[in-house]
Amino acid sequence: MKVPFGTISVTQESKDLIKKILDSARISSGKYVKKFETKFAQLLGAKEAVALSSGTDADILALAVLYDFGANRGDEVIIPALSFVATGNAVLHAGFKPVFVDVQRDTLNIDPDKIEEVITAKTRAIMPVHLMGKPAEMDKIKKVAKQHGIYVIEDAAEAHGAKYKGKEVGIIGDMGAFSLYIAHIVTTGEGGIVVTANLEFAEILRSLRSHGRACKCKECVINTSDQACSLRFKHGTDIRFFFERVGYSSKMNEMEAAIGLGNLKLYDQILEKRRFNFFYLHEKFQKFSPYFKTIKIENYEEIGPHAFPIILEEGVTFTRNEFVKYLESNGVDSRSLFLSMPTQAPGFSFLGYRLGQFPNAEYIGNNGLHIGVHQDLEKEHLDYFLGLTDSFLKERCDKRG
Ligand SMILES: Cc1ncc(COP(=O)(O)O)c(C=O)c1O
Repeated sequence: MKVPFGTISVTQESKDLIKKILDSARISSGKYVKKFETKFAQLLGAKEAVALSSGTDADILALAVLYDFGANRGDEVIIPALSFVATGNAVLHAGFKPVFVDVQRDTLNIDPDKIEEVITAKTRAIMPVHLMGKPAEMDKIKKVAKQHGIYVIEDAAEAHGAKYKGKEVGIIGDMGAFSLYIAHIVTTGEGGIVVTANLEFAEILRSLRSHGRACKCKECVINTSDQACSLRFKHGTDIRFFFERVGYSSKMNEMEAAIGLGNLKLYDQILEKRRFNFFYLHEKFQKFSPYFKTIKIENYEEIGPHAFPIILEEGVTFTRNEFVKYLESNGVDSRSLFLSMPTQAPGFSFLGYRLGQFPNAEYIGNNGLHIGVHQDLEKEHLDYFLGLTDSFLKERCDKRG
């Protein structure tokens, strides 16, 4: 049996729409991107949504907005030490310095009680990550951010559908950045989107995604109709070629939006199936507790399951890679549970952190993995994986000492 890590659902409606878009030769960001933004915003109850070309760009551009609000290049942004590396890359590409805080082993998320000690006069934002779709401790994070007058930008790349105390993640902070890459609950193939309640932030995001142009209306007539833009020369200069800020080239295209529009219709169905799969594994995995742990679930949160995380208990007589190889040789795909960006990713070594500074992130980096819970996995796939875990543990050993 094969248990793949990810899947993508492309509906017939999306396929028809893509053909229509190709026939129209109007492929660059236009009316379908706008429609996707509107629907995504509605789904979350967000005032604004700005679609982009990736989740990494969503992180980068959300941070770059802060330059219009007093931030300077080289200022600091606090992020968890453990995440997919895109979070750390994004802070650097936005021109900020990442300041890392260790995570908690049972939540995988930033330790909220350790944030305050790294805040300095240069801190501009905290970017918590809702890893694997488990919400970060937003009350504590917002409280400390408020006390110090800094922004909260949620990296909700993996957390579509997750709720914290009844509120959708992504709309709890000042901005929320989602990935729409194929592995995620809402996908456009490749893509990202930022949501916010702040209309000015949304305008700046629209400018940033298109080279920093002064042209940033919510409804762009140039891209969505045959009408001429009445604002184009209003200020004496062509706003399409007047660049207000250092921008990016990060637009979503119409075909990606078409995949997303079809995908949104399956949202409830996909979320329900992923939740079923996640909680099935979560319950069954308790019996492996001497060897493996997973995340704890609080009664005030709803997980938006990206995947099922597994961490080896300390002292077991096998390694993560041995378990991964065993699964792989039996058809079960898995991924490492990321790493401690500052101390385990060589690309970050220039920042000067030392191994040992982020013990939990480093432990997970060496001992964590995650497997798919996506909508194309049935109970028999999950039982097959559970059976394999059982036989691996029987074949190997019991707990050391
Ligand atoms: C936590 C996190 N942040 C950012 C990203 C970047 O998203 P993308 O791959 O769409 O650039 C990902 C990727 O899935 C992610 O897991």
